Amino acid sequence: MRAVMVANPKGGSGKTTLATNLAGYFANQKYNVSLCDLDRQQSALRWLAFRAPELPAITGYFGGNQMSVSMPQEADWAVLDAPAGFQGYKLNDYLRAVDRVLIPIVPSIFDMAATEDFLNTLRQDLSGRLAKIGIVAMRIDPRTRAANMLEEFLRHFDIPIVAYLRNTQNYVNVAAAGQTIFDPPRARNKRDIEQWQTLIAWLGKKK
Ligand SMILES: Nc1ncnc2c1ncn2[C@@H]1O[C@H](COP(=O)(O)OP(=O)(O)OP(=O)(O)O)[C@@H](O)[C@H]1O
Ligand SMILES: [Mg+2]
Repeated sequence: MRAVMVANPKGGSGKTTLATNLAGYFANQKYNVSLCDLDRQQSALRWLAFRAPELPAITGYFGGNQMSVSMPQEADWAVLDAPAGFQGYKLNDYLRAVDRVLIPIVPSIFDMAATEDFLNTLRQDLSGRLAKIGIVAMRIDPRTRAANMLEEFLRHFDIPIVAYLRNTQNYVNVAAAGQTIFDPPRARNKRDIEQWQTLIAWLGKKK
């Protein structure tokens, strides 16, 4: 089993969007995938409840009440959706237990400021293992000033941007139906699927 945690204490940064779509990617690749919802609001599990049974299966799992880390060992991949405000000893326990951490950040000064402490904490706790952390620039066009600002901000953390995902209603529309951009029919999501390739390659890299 390999585990990817999607985390950022800033609310609304795109954690659940990233986690559900990543689970959808693995399901469509025929992996046995578990989506672990660590959020008491259970957005990921609510989304999963809408998923049609004929789509590639994703197993839902609520981890929001456990005091200690629990992982679905039977899965090929576990995708963990962390809640806003996730920090402290619980965050540390999960950081140790997962193979990769994905941090979605929206390139606004408010979001970057709110994420700064979190990135500093990660840098301290994971020193020497920073390679397991990747940033996902959310709702962004890579050629804009906003993208430059985000790159500048991240430079002194030494954490790579592993994907740039554009702002599109495609994510909103598929989510409403319990789907992901990786589920058929995929034609209209072609551009978005392409944007995930760097992230997918990074997940496959050896640490
Ligand atoms: N690339 C995108 N394009 C358009 N809308 C997006 C994109 N990514 C996320 N959104 C929208 O932004 C909103 C917040 O996203 P999401 O719920 O995934 O964030 P979150 O970090 O899980 O929030 P919370 O901290 O409350 O758990 C949602 O309405 C989602 O549909
Ligand atoms: Mg969420």
